[in-house]
Amino acid sequence: MAVDEAVLDRVYHASDHQELMSAYQDWASDYDENTVQDFGYVGYRICAELLNRHLGGNTALHILDAGCGTGLVGQVLHSFGYTRLEGLDYSQEMLDQAGRKNVYDRRIKADLSQPLDIPDNSYDAVVCAGTFTYAHVTASAFSELIRITKPGGTICFTVREGAYEDYGYRKEMVRLEAQGAWELLEMRNEEYYKDKVLAKMCVYKVLK
Ligand SMILES: C[S@@+](CC[C@H](N)C(=O)[O-])C[C@H]1O[C@@H](n2cnc3c(N)ncnc32)[C@H](O)[C@@H]1O
Repeated sequence: MAVDEAVLDRVYHASDHQELMSAYQDWASDYDENTVQDFGYVGYRICAELLNRHLGGNTALHILDAGCGTGLVGQVLHSFGYTRLEGLDYSQEMLDQAGRKNVYDRRIKADLSQPLDIPDNSYDAVVCAGTFTYAHVTASAFSELIRITKPGGTICFTVREGAYEDYGYRKEMVRLEAQGAWELLEMRNEEYYKDKVLAKMCVYKVLK
């Protein structure tokens, strides 16, 4: 197996949280180069551009980058002029890499599959790229993201093709809409790894 495939195999086939965090611990310092240059990762940029379009370029808004990893999404948003950015991730090594980009006011170490120690209605928007996928975050994370977003706020995220159905994401997204927690504004199929993998890019308005 080629080195790049071995990395992806560890990340997408981790059997538990510990295995996943160990994979990111080992990958953190090479993540940007591997994903963007070697694998053609474009999903983070498309997701950041989509959020920016829905926010109408209002760079004063307070945004959480959930599952921020090394900060690729934050870097794009910062280049658009957003300065009130916070990054959340479960991996300390990924958060350390994100810190080097100097785009986040605050970095939070937390597990998105658990209740978050963040007050209700904290953010104008939440963005989450690359984290609703195989072996990562459970669908229960959606209701926590809704809780910490202000009513009328925006949640923009990617859901990896396949995992959308396999991990119960679609079912939970529909359930939350039927319950009146959020309203779908846009969903489109976009490239995630160029010419290899697709993801759904989803934008919701929080209602509550
Ligand atoms: C594929 S990376 C995406 C990182 C970044 N958003 C990007 O687009 O490059 C997925 C990130 O989700 C984090 N992650 C996975 N499971 C998580 C969880 N349960 N809670 C918080 N972060 C998690 C990983 O540590 C990793 O940094």
